[in-house]
Amino acid sequence: MSEQDEPFGAISEKDWQRLEKAAIAVRERAYVPYSRFPVGAALLTPDGDIVVGCNVENATIGATVCAERNAIGTAVASNQREFVALCVVTDVDEPSAPCGICRQVLAEFCDDLPILMINTRGDRRFTTLDQLLPMRFSGRDFLEKG
Ligand code: THU
Repeated sequence: MSEQDEPFGAISEKDWQRLEKAAIAVRERAYVPYSRFPVGAALLTPDGDIVVGCNVENATIGATVCAERNAIGTAVASNQREFVALCVVTDVDEPSAPCGICRQVLAEFCDDLPILMINTRGDRRFTTLDQLLPMRFSGRDFLEKG
């Protein structure tokens, strides 16, 4: 069994496949007139729901919002704040990892999170939020001071 065939985290292969499908579908709706680099993201909630996001660019460039952060925003607006897995899809040889800002935003809601990065050719890379953002700053750092 190759590394890619092994179950990752507590997530079943079936759920990973559902997440992949959702991320691939939402990537088609990315608004990317500047970079032409569409990204799709799909979050899995503990109840098995899937919340998706795509990147939405802006002429100022700086006002661009990544797929992962849009997925988090949509989830919070629909009363979902707990996540058990994330899939991100890009179209590069080595599937892209979430950017630094998105890592911090994911960390707001997840202590750790299994993350599957894929490309449109079906290549898979697995990681975790802990690996991507060790020794993070969190609300606990100052909330517990009060
Ligand atoms: N992008 C994402 O959507 N997620 C990331 O984690 C990295 C970058 C988007 C932002 C921009 O629209 C495009 O990819 C190029 O940076």
